[in-house]
Amino acid sequence: MTAPLRASEPTIVNVALGARAYDIVIGRETLSLLGPRVAALKPGAKAAIVTDETVKRHHLAATEAALATAGIRSISVVLPPGESSKSIASFERVCDALITAKIERGDLVVALGGGVVGDLAGFAAASVRRGLDYVQVPTTLLAQVDASVGGKTGINSQHGKNLIGAFHQPILVVADTALLDTLPPREFRAGYAEIVKYGLLGDAAFFSWLEANWQDLFAGGPAREHAIAVSCRMKAAIVTRDERETGERALLNLGHTFGHAFEAAAGFSNRLLHGEAIALGMVMAFAFCTRRGLIAAAETERVVRHLAAVGLPTHLSDVPGGLPGADRLMELMAQDKKVARGKLTFILVRAVGAAFVAADVNAADVHAFLVGKLVER
Ligand SMILES: NC(=O)c1ccc[n+]([C@@H]2O[C@H](COP(=O)([O-])OP(=O)(O)OC[C@H]3O[C@@H](n4cnc5c(N)ncnc54)[C@H](O)[C@@H]3O)[C@@H](O)[C@H]2O)c1
Ligand SMILES: [Zn+2]
Repeated sequence: MTAPLRASEPTIVNVALGARAYDIVIGRETLSLLGPRVAALKPGAKAAIVTDETVKRHHLAATEAALATAGIRSISVVLPPGESSKSIASFERVCDALITAKIERGDLVVALGGGVVGDLAGFAAASVRRGLDYVQVPTTLLAQVDASVGGKTGINSQHGKNLIGAFHQPILVVADTALLDTLPPREFRAGYAEIVKYGLLGDAAFFSWLEANWQDLFAGGPAREHAIAVSCRMKAAIVTRDERETGERALLNLGHTFGHAFEAAAGFSNRLLHGEAIALGMVMAFAFCTRRGLIAAAETERVVRHLAAVGLPTHLSDVPGGLPGADRLMELMAQDKKVARGKLTFILVRAVGAAFVAADVNAADVHAFLVGKLVER
């Protein structure tokens, strides 16, 4: 794929799910297309914008204006920022607000924010009146390349993350890459880890391209649109073939079995953002494959070099405050993924761009591997 000629020309990626197909509209200032697109999809609809306080400050007025220019009235529901808003209490608040505002089947929910807002608003949309249409307007890099696409919605339970939720596809995703200009650099880097993931799991040429073009991507040049479009295209293709994750969609979990354990060990706190945990998790997945003789050490070093170049963590000793021992990390991994008779399911790699699902990974091997990694500097 080539980059768009002008930043103002949006790239459209279609998620081809038959009756539930939708477009992802990617580019600078594409927020202005929100109103006309929504008006065409749902004539006469009114909208409820769900967002968080931080995103409200930066982007709510422009979103309301984008809808108003197409004659769409809107109300807004504003939540505190952060993962704690993916709760039953916030879910209740959003549902109540939608019902009070008389948002009905002919109307629309607009999720304006990062993955937290997208997951919560999407789940409220899936639930109120047994299913309202919703549009994703992702405002973090992570949400633009991952969370806003594919229809997984939900909230956390006291027993763990994302345990309550539904598959509910949006009717439109508008990824305005200019909205990312206000994103803190650390959040941007964390989202970038998921872009790297797409290269590592299925597109070696894209990974090489990222090695050469990441600086333009971070600076907001045309490489940003291109990388988001390639990422969305790959996720869309995988989701189209395996919407409910019975097979191939699991490849999107590259780095996530290790990563979720690190995130949980850090208490899902600011010490380690999701994307940072995934950067570490991908390094661990590659290093583990090198140890098993699946992939050359030079390939693993190449991955480490790139993630380190953009400022992502690549050593377990990079986690501020440290990590618990291998026993505890294994427990956390077992909670995340089913362990059958001492075997774990992992996404492994044969090469950069060639990941596969391995359901027979020996837990004792992973334990021994982690013991070694935990003492590395
Ligand atoms: N549904 C899925 O398929 C899927 C996939 C991946 C992740 N997720 C979920 O996504 C969540 C993480 O998403 P996230 O990383 O976007 O976190 P987030 O939504 O908490 O956003 C991160 C922070 O950035 C702020 N922010 C957002 N946009 C901004 C902007 N444009 N300018 C300034 N600040 C801005 C937010 O207020 C927040 O403080 C997790 O709950 C995860 O489970 C879901
Ligand atoms: Zn992730």
